[in-house]
Amino acid sequence: MLDRFMSRRAALAFVVGATLVPLTAHAKPVRPRVVVHRDPSCGCCEDWAAHLMVAGFPVAIVNTTKPNAVKQRFGVPQDLWSCHTAEVGGFIVEGHVPSAAIDRLLAEKPNATGLAVAGMPIGSPGMEGGEPETYEVVLFGPQGRRSFARYRGEREL
Ligand code: CU
Ligand code: CU
Repeated sequence: MLDRFMSRRAALAFVVGATLVPLTAHAKPVRPRVVVHRDPSCGCCEDWAAHLMVAGFPVAIVNTTKPNAVKQRFGVPQDLWSCHTAEVGGFIVEGHVPSAAIDRLLAEKPNATGLAVAGMPIGSPGMEGGEPETYEVVLFGPQGRRSFARYRGEREL
């Protein structure tokens, strides 16, 4: 019942757009806020934001009509671009990265800019429906890049 109440509150805050969702009564550990920059004409970004909220991340949405300028500002290499770009805990998260990978990023705090899932793989969080694809979660930054995790749908391989 409490969970249901919290998720309704989270959904409401999501609609409002920039409200921090208090999760103190929630059983999951408190996670840092995720600021999602996205083009308002794109729907899968909202579905990804909902995936994060279910995982316990407070989410704020920032609409932008120049998403590519945001990606350039945050140092996301062009071949890793997806639809939305997010900031969380001092890191950048590009595209439909599973929340579990973000949890690991925040726990390990590697020396990097952040994580990316390039393109829009079918079956990644926010891209459900259809036969899930296998996709790479890439850790990237000025030091280079490496594979951080591999997923098929929402399952890590
Ligand atoms: Cu997308
Ligand atoms: Cu989108």
